[in-house]
Amino acid sequence: AQTVGRTTDGVVEVGGIDVKALAEQFGTPAYFIDEADFRARARAWRTAFGPDADVFYAGKAFLSRAVVRWLYEEGLNLDVCSGGELATALSGGMPADRIAFHGNNKSTEEITRAVEAGVGRIVLDSFQEIVRVAHIASSLGRRQRVQIRVTVGVEAHTHEFIATAHEDQKFGVPLAGGQAAEAVRRALQLDGLEVIGIHSHIGSQIFDMSGFEVAAHRVVGLLKDIRDEHGIELPEIDLGGGLGIAYTSDDDPREPHEIAKALTEIVSRECESARLRTPRISVEPGRAIVGPTAFTLYEVGTIKPLDGLRTYVSVDGGMSDNIRTALYDAEYSVALVSRTSDAEPMLVRVVGKHCESGDIVVRDAFLPADLAPGDLIAVPATGAYCRSMASNYNHVLRPPVVAVGDGEARVIVRRETEEDLLRLDVG
Ligand code: LLP
Repeated sequence: AQTVGRTTDGVVEVGGIDVKALAEQFGTPAYFIDEADFRARARAWRTAFGPDADVFYAGKAFLSRAVVRWLYEEGLNLDVCSGGELATALSGGMPADRIAFHGNNKSTEEITRAVEAGVGRIVLDSFQEIVRVAHIASSLGRRQRVQIRVTVGVEAHTHEFIATAHEDQKFGVPLAGGQAAEAVRRALQLDGLEVIGIHSHIGSQIFDMSGFEVAAHRVVGLLKDIRDEHGIELPEIDLGGGLGIAYTSDDDPREPHEIAKALTEIVSRECESARLRTPRISVEPGRAIVGPTAFTLYEVGTIKPLDGLRTYVSVDGGMSDNIRTALYDAEYSVALVSRTSDAEPMLVRVVGKHCESGDIVVRDAFLPADLAPGDLIAVPATGAYCRSMASNYNHVLRPPVVAVGDGEARVIVRRETEEDLLRLDVG
């Protein structure tokens, strides 16, 4: 999604800078994020949902102080799910009342910090947490705005590890068996809580809108039950994140305005037929905003042709900077970017430098047969869940994130150093 071109020597240019210059200045591997593209996507979500809804960017996809500033300036809110994300959000200048705090096992310390900071909402994930948050808020003399996360029982069509609304998983309180209604009943009795709404998140990397529609339908059904039982109309619902992006040309993602239209229509229709005031809707896209805005630049190292199989192309990073292929069988594409080549395409597997055979970045791809050590290759769409899930496996140093655009590049998260690693090792 970056402004991409080629110089007369065939070197790919992004945001007006050629990748050889980027590699020289910042080293490889490195993530390059297009600030203008990030802002445009954030704005598209904001505009699509309009002033009567809220867009919470899911910080777990990728969070840094620069990103927090971009979000703040574009009018988005922020969803965090740990003390570390909360600290980053506050340190980046996001006003606390625009922060939502998530998680299925928030610690007492995290809850206390969130309440003290004055976060706009805490999303309650269990019966125990209802009591815990109420108690902490009361003891601080606060009334905390909360939503209750429910699991609506839909099977999202995505990888098992990232589907979250079927019944047999750890998140939320099931709608089934009246459990969510019971959670609301208990929360309404507690002074420390102001119950503002219901939350549902069905999973991630989803293309089929029907799961969201079923979720919206069931959440509105719960609002109606709450009105019938308690005589109150909860003012907000959150329908989570999860919109899929294109990793390869086979994927066909929906646009924010399509999602906004589908969700607002179904919620208003259902509310009208239940004679409920339409609640304020919020959503929590992470991947759909940041995913397409970054790519990873690697330098090619060892090349190993295996007769009759494929050629293994090793890069200077791997599963420590992109675990998604190993973990979810995710598909990525790859391109030679430091020159053009007329050579025949060869079938390759792009692998990292880690000590296991599952260390695969791109499972199947074609690269020119004259590929050589020192060539630069780029893997697009690595903005979401790559740097944020990066590890130090094999004591490999986590790569920097560099913002590029308008002929300029600046580091927003610096490369880790061996000193950083050794600083933690105090034995
Ligand atoms: N809201 C909640 C409550 C979530 O749990 C998530 C993602 C989101 C919003 C944002 O979902 P998105 O719009 O980014 O799909 N590491 C996995 C994805 C895990 C998603 C976890 N929750 C991956 O790399 O595919």
